[in-house]
Amino acid sequence: MNCPNPSDVAENLQWPWPQTWPSHRFPLRLGVMASGEGSNFEALVAATRDGPLRAEVVRLVVNNAACGASARAERLGIPCQCLDHRAFPSREDLDGALIAAFQAAAVDLVVMAGWMRIVTPRLIEAFPDRLLNIHPSLLPSFRGLDAVGQALAAGVCLTGCTVHLVRPEVDSGPILAQAAVPVKCGDDASTLAARIHRQEHRILPLAVALAAQRLESGDQG
Ligand code: GAR
Repeated sequence: MNCPNPSDVAENLQWPWPQTWPSHRFPLRLGVMASGEGSNFEALVAATRDGPLRAEVVRLVVNNAACGASARAERLGIPCQCLDHRAFPSREDLDGALIAAFQAAAVDLVVMAGWMRIVTPRLIEAFPDRLLNIHPSLLPSFRGLDAVGQALAAGVCLTGCTVHLVRPEVDSGPILAQAAVPVKCGDDASTLAARIHRQEHRILPLAVALAAQRLESGDQG
């Protein structure tokens, strides 16, 4: 393999970054869905409390009560609700419960921050252009499960992360923000995922602000 010299490769290659933070008139009420560690959930909360995102995370929904995200919610004082997918007869029923949870919390936008379940048009249509997903690849490459493993198996030199609006086809929809991340010699899934996570934590708050700006400007392009 032709390994790039690390000194030739910036730690973080980055798509053009907006000159100014995207502006939106109204502070946002955010709902978050998470299945795992919840580091992206915490990054969002941090961006609202100590960073530039004019928003409040008002509700976290997890599908596994014991996941890291729910422990983080407790520490951060964010209301957390568990909707265990095994308790629902169908994906549509789970999505119906998600809709009820987020409507009760009067959220403006919902962020799938490591939600490892396929969502149905029912959820997507309840939050038109208000449902965001983060995925650990440069979409449209490496959709679906284990995107980091897929990138390693493909032998790419560059991968990354994407935040996009959700459409019915898995890991598709208008892209709001991407960050490119180099694959380094000797990377395994854990070292590469950690490098991608650092970029996810930067682009997720930015993408939320961009989605809000886009909604307010009526830009559905
Ligand atoms: C993130 O890398 C996110 O991109 C990925 O799950 C991880 C969650 O990390 N999402 C998907 O793979 C969805 N297809 P976190 O729990 O630490 O935020």
